[in-house]
Amino acid sequence: MKVERIAVIGGGTMGNGIAHVCAQAGRSVTLVDMNQDLLQRALDTIAKNLDRQVKKEVISPSDKEATVSRISTTTSVEEGGAEAHLVVEAVPEEVDLKEKVFRALDGAAPEEAILASNTSSISITQIAGFTRRPHKVIGMHFMNPVPVMKLVEVIRGLATDDATTDTVMELSRELGKTPVQVNDFPGFVSNRVLMPMINEAVFALMEGVAEAEAIDTVMKLGMAHPMGPLTLADLIGLDVCLSILEVLHRDLGDDRYRPCPLLRKYVAAGWLGRKSGQGFFAYGG
Ligand code: NAI
Repeated sequence: MKVERIAVIGGGTMGNGIAHVCAQAGRSVTLVDMNQDLLQRALDTIAKNLDRQVKKEVISPSDKEATVSRISTTTSVEEGGAEAHLVVEAVPEEVDLKEKVFRALDGAAPEEAILASNTSSISITQIAGFTRRPHKVIGMHFMNPVPVMKLVEVIRGLATDDATTDTVMELSRELGKTPVQVNDFPGFVSNRVLMPMINEAVFALMEGVAEAEAIDTVMKLGMAHPMGPLTLADLIGLDVCLSILEVLHRDLGDDRYRPCPLLRKYVAAGWLGRKSGQGFFAYGG
């Protein structure tokens, strides 16, 4: 199936980036969020990010206009999904909310439409179970910031069929991304490997092995990571890191994924990283 019409549910950090890259690749996009203010904010962010690409001469001003013109908006999930070939859900990481959205989409989207989730840690198999089309439900895990990062982790649920997987792999390539196919296990590959590293860095800090700056410098200069694990945790959000570690710990049942008490303490204090101005490092302003 050729995917021409895409609905994106949720226009936050990830959703506006997903709408951006889909529209830029010539797809007609319907962006859905809770109210007009949120939709306008998402459109403003997309315009700002496109301006940046124009300034860097990655795209021309007319490419920007064409991209913007391909995006329409609505506050209704049903309306957004009604004519879509593919829906990408990017609402907050709460199972009950994903259930509500997928039940609504299953009722509203055409029978042959693919329903994808950008979840970072909720089981695709579980999400598929909220629908009567589990073979057409799949994970499309984009990375932040979406217009910049090349990876799409494509997650097959237990029932996801080959045709759905092939369509999503092909579309991801047409979006200029490199898709990697993985199976549905807690944390998939990305967070199963990344979060224990971040967690171990927090343990090293808590146990006084080294200061935060030193831990990050070891990983940057010693392992050629573009940023240290504590800086990365601050960027992702310490609450998000904690909740993914909790999923890994609970669903894999292995204590090696136990969240570090210092991470819990920071989250309890409201030290959530960059977004709150304070995490392992302080962010002025
Ligand atoms: P966010 O909080 O920035 O955006 C979520 C958006 O969904 C908000 O604009 C919110 O108003 C909207 N929303 C909430 N309920 C809705 C509903 N019923 N209908 C329509 N829109 C609704 O969240 P973010 O960070 O974009 O995360 C979205 C998903 O992407 C989550 O599942 C998260 O785990 C995943 N993810 C996040 C990454 C990140 O770095 N932020 C990276 C990869 C995946």
